[in-house]
Amino acid sequence: MTTNPEADNKPTYEAILTSVDGDVATITINRPKALNALNSTVMEEVITAAEGYDRDPAIGAIVLTGGEKAFAAGADIKQMKDETYPEIAAKRMFLEWERLAELRTPLITAVSGYALGGGCEVAMLGDILLASETAVFGQPEINLGIIPGMGGTQRLTRAVGKYKAMDLILTGRNMDAEEAERSGLVSRVLPAENFAEEVAKIARTVAGKSQVATAAASAMVDAAYETTLRQGVRTERETFWSLFATQDQKEGMDAFANKRKPEWQNR
Ligand code: CAA
Repeated sequence: MTTNPEADNKPTYEAILTSVDGDVATITINRPKALNALNSTVMEEVITAAEGYDRDPAIGAIVLTGGEKAFAAGADIKQMKDETYPEIAAKRMFLEWERLAELRTPLITAVSGYALGGGCEVAMLGDILLASETAVFGQPEINLGIIPGMGGTQRLTRAVGKYKAMDLILTGRNMDAEEAERSGLVSRVLPAENFAEEVAKIARTVAGKSQVATAAASAMVDAAYETTLRQGVRTERETFWSLFATQDQKEGMDAFANKRKPEWQNR
């Protein structure tokens, strides 16, 4: 990644494309020759771009997507094949991907084609996971003599349950979009012909909500994976109460009572 002085220091990326349409930002992983294999450049650039959009109050949703043939076919095997245990432990390989789970702005991952290994794991970092009919999911690491290393054993298991997760992770087989939706891995399967358009529509819907409410909602759904039911319900209630300290709660309810559209202040 370099910066382009002629464009207000806007970063110029090597392995991703970025664009903004209204209040929706899109990050596209762009290493088509390597089926979007997730090397360290992709990781750094995706995180830099996503965190930049997360800090921008004009952005209400971030879409992370890939190409038609591959969202991402996994971590870059060629880049990591000669690594040693002390080296990857010292650099805490893949830890940084978890930063996507900390974004306040809703992250929508949109998968066409292969989402394998790290690709499936990055897709699972989304708040909403959208799949084209062409999507193929899998955790084939077992075929390389390793296991998933970006959260796959944990997030896939929480999404699809022990037995489907074990099946995928121990056999290394792929599953299609239909099976992924049936298993609870994806939010929706969308037609391949106008996938980008349908994804954008959903992203605009989310971006059009109050940002304080979307941030609170996604934090609370995530909490369901991290805490007990009793503690989660308690925290949800407190978060719910806290939203009554926001202008958007007053605006949303006043707009409803007066049969008009709310105008969110995002505070
Ligand atoms: N890493 C590096 N390069 C990759 C890659 C990966 N994960 N996946 C594909 N590529 C490269 C191929 O090496 C090939 O490059 P060359 O043209 O230079 O040979 C190019 O992308 C095109 O790939 P194929 O020719 O293999 O395409 P295909 O259509 O025949 O097969 C595929 C597609 C089934 C997805 C196959 O590429 C494949 O099996 N890829 C590897 C999938 C995998 O094992 N992913 C897990 C990686 S480990 C991991 O992710 C660890 C973790 O948990 C974080």
